[in-house]
Amino acid sequence: MVPEWKDHHVSDWTFFADPDEHRLIRHRSAQRFTAHARTSPQHYVPAALPTLPFPDGSFDLVLSSHLLFSYADDLDYDFHRRSILELARVTRSEIQLFPLMPVGSAHRYPQLDELLAELARSGVTSRIVQVDYEFQRGGNEMVVCRV
Ligand SMILES: C[S@@+](CC[C@H](N)C(=O)[O-])C[C@H]1O[C@@H](n2cnc3c(N)ncnc32)[C@H](O)[C@@H]1O
Repeated sequence: MVPEWKDHHVSDWTFFADPDEHRLIRHRSAQRFTAHARTSPQHYVPAALPTLPFPDGSFDLVLSSHLLFSYADDLDYDFHRRSILELARVTRSEIQLFPLMPVGSAHRYPQLDELLAELARSGVTSRIVQVDYEFQRGGNEMVVCRV
């Protein structure tokens, strides 16, 4: 299978000029991350959703990118529901989840409406917000949840 970022039909090449620039910027980011993790390991806590090792309301803002909604074939609806409720437990106010389209798809996560409605019944309200960044073609939306 052709990796999604190489497929010009599903990638938007306005943010990155071309695959070489994309690779270079990702490589630099990886280098910055590994350097920071090496010198400041106290900022990193190994954990795996849907269970996090943090007390309730630990963070002002929770960001999650390219995990939830991205792997709809491997991570089922219940994983998404439990993970977002767990992220809501550890935040004092807001969660931002990006993007809303599974890898290789041109459409939002298929059960998004159902999931957001179920979360609302549990006290987690949400709205869909457009963002400036778009690499996955059409993937320029995030969900902002409030607790
Ligand atoms: C495609 S990467 C995205 C990394 C980064 N968030 C970004 O946007 O560049 C997906 C990440 O999710 C992490 N991951 C996989 N399963 C997870 C889980 N159950 N809970 C938390 N993170 C998980 C992987 O280790 C990987 O770092």
